[in-house]
Order: sequence, then C-alpha cells, then structure tokens
Amino acid sequence: MRLLVLGSAAGGGSPQWNCACEICRLHWAGDPRVTPRSQSSIAATADGVHWLLLNASPDLREQIVRCRSLSPVESAAQGEFRSSPIRAVLVTNGDVDHVAGLLTLREKQPFDLYATGAVLEVLHANPVFDVLDPSLVTPDAVTLDTPFEPVPGLEVELFSVPGKVPLYLERGTVDVGTEGEMTVGVRLTVGGRTAYYIPGCAAVTERLVERVGGADLLLFDGTVYEDDEMEKAGVGKKTGRRMGHLPIAGPEGSLKAFETCAFGAKAYIHINNTNPILVEGSSARRAVEAAGWQVAFDGMELAP
Ligand code: MLT
Ligand code: MN
Ligand code: ZN
Repeated sequence: MRLLVLGSAAGGGSPQWNCACEICRLHWAGDPRVTPRSQSSIAATADGVHWLLLNASPDLREQIVRCRSLSPVESAAQGEFRSSPIRAVLVTNGDVDHVAGLLTLREKQPFDLYATGAVLEVLHANPVFDVLDPSLVTPDAVTLDTPFEPVPGLEVELFSVPGKVPLYLERGTVDVGTEGEMTVGVRLTVGGRTAYYIPGCAAVTERLVERVGGADLLLFDGTVYEDDEMEKAGVGKKTGRRMGHLPIAGPEGSLKAFETCAFGAKAYIHINNTNPILVEGSSARRAVEAAGWQVAFDGMELAP
C-alpha cells in the first residue's frame, strides 16, 4: 500500500488566508520553523496505478498539480487526452474542507464517489454538486463496517466515530459526539497491512482503541493541541471539542488515549493553524515526537 498526504492541515489550511495568530504570523514572516500546509486530503493505492482520493479539499487542484503520481500523464493511454489515476473518491464527512474539492473534479471525468448514505444525502441536497455529471460520477452509499474495494487490491471499511453534522448544517443545540453516519474513520488494507485514517474524531472510545490498536499505521485527528487553544490564540471562542475534534493533550486527549497501543507508525493529520505542533522545536512538537508521533506534512509518503 502507498499513501500520499496531499493536505495535512485542517479546514482553512496553514497559514489561513485571514489569520494573524501567533503561528500564522510565523508563516507570514517567512519563519523556517513552520511549513505551509494545504487542506485535508490523502490518496491511497495498492497497485500504484489506480488511486483512491480520501477527502476532496478546496486545495485539490494544486495538490494534484504538485503530485506526479496523480497527473493525467500517468494514466492516459496513447491518443487519450483526458484521464486521471484518481478512479474513486471517498469523503469521511460533509465538511467544506472535505467536499469542496469535488467541484474541482467536475471536468467530465468518470469516477466512483463513496460516502455514507447520510453524507451523500447532504451532497445531493446541494444543487451545486449536480455539476458532477451523474452519467460519469457514480455515487455509492457505503454501509458501515462492511469492506469494499474501491480500486483494485485496496480493501476499505468505514466505521462510525464520534462526530457531528457539518458546520453549515448546525441548527440550535448541536449534538457533538454522536456515532452515526456523519463522521467516519477509514480502514485501508492491502495484503495484510492495515492503515487507519481518522481526520475527525470528537472522542477516543475504548471501542476505537480496540479497533485500531496494533495497526501498521494510524493517521489521526490532530486538529488542536489544547481544547481551548483557539480562544487562547485570540481567534475565536470555539473549543476543539465543540468543532468535533478532541485535543491532543490533556487527560482525555489522543496522546493519552493511544499511549498503550503499539502502531507501526502514527502521525497527526488535519492540523489546525493554531496548533503549536506545527512549529518545529516547540514544546508541543517535542511532546508528540517524544511519544512516537509524526506530524504529517504535505507530500509525505507512507508505505505501511
Ligand atoms: C472541521 O473539521 O471542524 C471543519 O472542517 C470545520 C469547517 O467546516 O471549516
Ligand atoms: Mn475539517
Ligand atoms: Zn492562524
């Protein structure tokens, strides 16, 4: 299995276009301790030819342009001028950072679109996604906990993780932490090697630890380091939890939750621009690295 991190940041990217928080300021000042990161997406393949895109970010066009393996030249047959190694697309929730890139994929290119029935309904309810020609793009409602093969040799299974509805569907009191079809984690398996991709997760349950523990690779929600870091950074009142993302640090954070699990490798992904792990040498960065975590970056290649 080969995995490419196309975008390692959370919604907004790092730096975010309108943000002058302490960390975005380092970017704007050209400080080498921070590396720009685009919005949340990875790609996976078993055969190096047919690729599954996991989440379609608003930065998708630039991500494809930067990635040789996903160029149309890689897949075009002789005399064929419109082509793509991306044969299937899977979205793990309906958030803008995971679905806006579907609009980039509208250029009369066939692919299969996988998501839970609930997320497909959200897309279906928004006519802008009708730009995906139904004669070319086949929506496929995935049943949870049921393996399927979106591209040759790559087994995929979706499972529910604690989450919430997309921000733009929030009305009244929002139920955060529900396990249903709105937020899923992904198991990717090739020839007995297994990776988990969980870019959004409101809490680590015992069931989740049991499910993913011992995997060859875990790519996990690294949105915020501390639950209240956005408020501390002066950029808003929302906590990580309220956004559907548990913090890395603290007694209920992911560092602690997974501390007894053995993984072949583990990396934080979907990192918000306020998260101090983005700064090389920071105490937060050193803390996650000391616990054996990597901090995903755009262009990171993994072969779990
Ligand atoms: C999130 O991960 O919380 C969302 O991407 C937020 C958003 O929609 O901007
Ligand atoms: Mn997001
Ligand atoms: Zn910022």
